[in-house]
Amino acid sequence: MALVLEAPEVAASVRPGQFVMLTAARAGESAPALPRPMAIYSRDQGAGTVEILYGVVGAGTERLRSFNPGEQIYTVGPLGRGFEVAPDVQTVLLVGRGIGTCSLTTVAQENAERGRDTIAVTSARNSGALIGVDFYRKHGAATVHAVTDDDGTSAPAALIASLTEQHDEKPPQLILTCGSDRLTRLCQTLSERWEAPMQVSVEAHMACGLGYCHGCASGARSQGNESPLICADGPAFAWRILAETDA
Ligand SMILES: Cc1cc2nc3c(=O)[nH]c(=O)nc-3n(C[C@H](O)[C@H](O)[C@H](O)COP(=O)(O)OP(=O)(O)OC[C@H]3O[C@@H](n4cnc5c(N)ncnc54)[C@H](O)[C@@H]3O)c2cc1C
Ligand code: FES
Repeated sequence: MALVLEAPEVAASVRPGQFVMLTAARAGESAPALPRPMAIYSRDQGAGTVEILYGVVGAGTERLRSFNPGEQIYTVGPLGRGFEVAPDVQTVLLVGRGIGTCSLTTVAQENAERGRDTIAVTSARNSGALIGVDFYRKHGAATVHAVTDDDGTSAPAALIASLTEQHDEKPPQLILTCGSDRLTRLCQTLSERWEAPMQVSVEAHMACGLGYCHGCASGARSQGNESPLICADGPAFAWRILAETDA
């Protein structure tokens, strides 16, 4: 499902990898009370709009589907820390699975505007579920690897063979991923092989999205500090291996 929101301030200020919180209850309705986090799939600063793609999985997204063109929806954003692309990066590899791809597409949009190159991997169960193929092409991606479980091209061994064969000679300087633990591990292998830093966009259940409720705290605690908040310290995090264990 797609939703285009007239939200000029969000369109003007959103950074790649940030998200909005959408409240799917209409004015006067009490449920669903909590807003739902959604990535921004694309932004159009000229038109003052942002586009969101979503899958219907439960009560909130089911209600979202009932909204009609022209209706108002309570939207807070842009929120969170998005991806960081250092000034010397020329080529970025984007690796997304399913709806997780929606957190990566605005990176390609920004790459096109800033003269950076995009290599994109979009992975899904089958070709009908692939997200972003045309969008990436429209935004100048040098290569789009559309891989599926159906034909086996999404299997880590097949994908890594195809990526290394095509990009070993001129590898990307940054790898960004979202949507799959399996792809995160694959990106880690590529990150080590190409000595390219890597960032991961992490999902969590979010009640506020603003850093207030602490319900989205996740990951390693440091001494005296609680785990990072996915909504405020992320959702994009630099990926670093702190220690290897034999477990
Ligand atoms: C930063 C961020 C960006 C997101 N961007 C998108 C997007 O662009 N498009 C999109 O479709 N979805 C996105 N999501 C996930 C989306 O927020 C959830 O699918 C939505 O909140 C589900 O609400 P619901 O009321 O329909 O389902 P619920 O009734 O809340 O849940 C239905 C099912 O979905 C699972 N679920 C709910 N929320 C999450 C979550 N955050 N992570 C994993 N599983 C979950 C539940 O465990 C349950 O099994 C994003 C989540 C985050 C944190
Ligand atoms: S969702 Fe409330 S602090 Fe992150």
